[in-house]
Amino acid sequence: MPIVVEHLTHVYQSGSINAYTALKDINMTIEDGEFVGLIGHTGSGKSTLIQQLNGLMQPTSGRVTVDGFDMNDKKQRAGGRALVGMVFQYPDYQLFDETVYRDISFGPKNLKLDEAEIDRRVREAMDLVGLDFEEFAEKSPFELSGGEKRRCALAGIIAMYPKYLVLDEPMAGLDPSGRRAVLEMIDGFRKRLGCAVVMVSHSMDDIAKAADKVIVLRGGEIFKCGTPAEIFSLSDELNEMGLEPPFAARMASELRRRGFALPGSIYTNEALVEALESFKRGDKNV
Ligand SMILES: Nc1ncnc2c1ncn2[C@@H]1O[C@H](COP(=O)(O)OP(=O)(O)O)[C@@H](O)[C@H]1O
Ligand SMILES: [Mg+2]
Repeated sequence: MPIVVEHLTHVYQSGSINAYTALKDINMTIEDGEFVGLIGHTGSGKSTLIQQLNGLMQPTSGRVTVDGFDMNDKKQRAGGRALVGMVFQYPDYQLFDETVYRDISFGPKNLKLDEAEIDRRVREAMDLVGLDFEEFAEKSPFELSGGEKRRCALAGIIAMYPKYLVLDEPMAGLDPSGRRAVLEMIDGFRKRLGCAVVMVSHSMDDIAKAADKVIVLRGGEIFKCGTPAEIFSLSDELNEMGLEPPFAARMASELRRRGFALPGSIYTNEALVEALESFKRGDKNV
């Protein structure tokens, strides 16, 4: 069963003179096992939207259901929340315990798992995020580097085996090799645990690499929802919104302008290289 968002509108400080409509009539579905990329300019409502997926925030009107649990209903909310793991943009808000081990085991403990299973999950999660057990288990989370903190926060969430993993700009502030590592990690545990992923990112390149479906928010509304190929072919619209299409898509459109008959669906570096290789071989139909 999916997460279904229906006619969701969110107004901050509703009823006051400062009332601000951050989301307007959002309709979307997150299917089992799907990788959904959520993009949009700063202030377009991405964080407001994803915080409704686990009931952390309730809509002003409209509804979110998580596998049938109505997140507007106080009694049903806990059932839905247990399925949705949320990783915030700033790991400092998420880490709190004395040691990395205790921090990561907090969620599994709350699930009332037995000690052996908790231990197994903490070790597995640390392994999946690339934190060496011997080196990090007894360290304080607050002594870690930025990238290590992020890994620790991720581990604490994946140790709960969420059915839906929701990530708010998980690569923000990391260098290119760190970004790649985190993205590979996310894809790794998606495959291992079979969870769906909803990822907010500013990087179109990262979204192009990973997503099955892309949702573009503009001014609190869904501007477009589609496959990466459909979304990244809209390079003019994305540019207007201040979003830079993936490198490969920009390069392909520049090459097309210069007369190269490239297919319209190039948005990853691999596809661009493949198309150019094809030209080198002299294939007629690239
Ligand atoms: N607590 C709040 N009170 C009032 N306005 C808010 C609050 N949080 C966010 N907003 C406003 O709602 C809009 C959407 O914010 P947000 O969801 O954080 O966007 P994004 O994550 O896409 O940058 C922004 O204009 C922001 O200023
Ligand atoms: Mg945000």
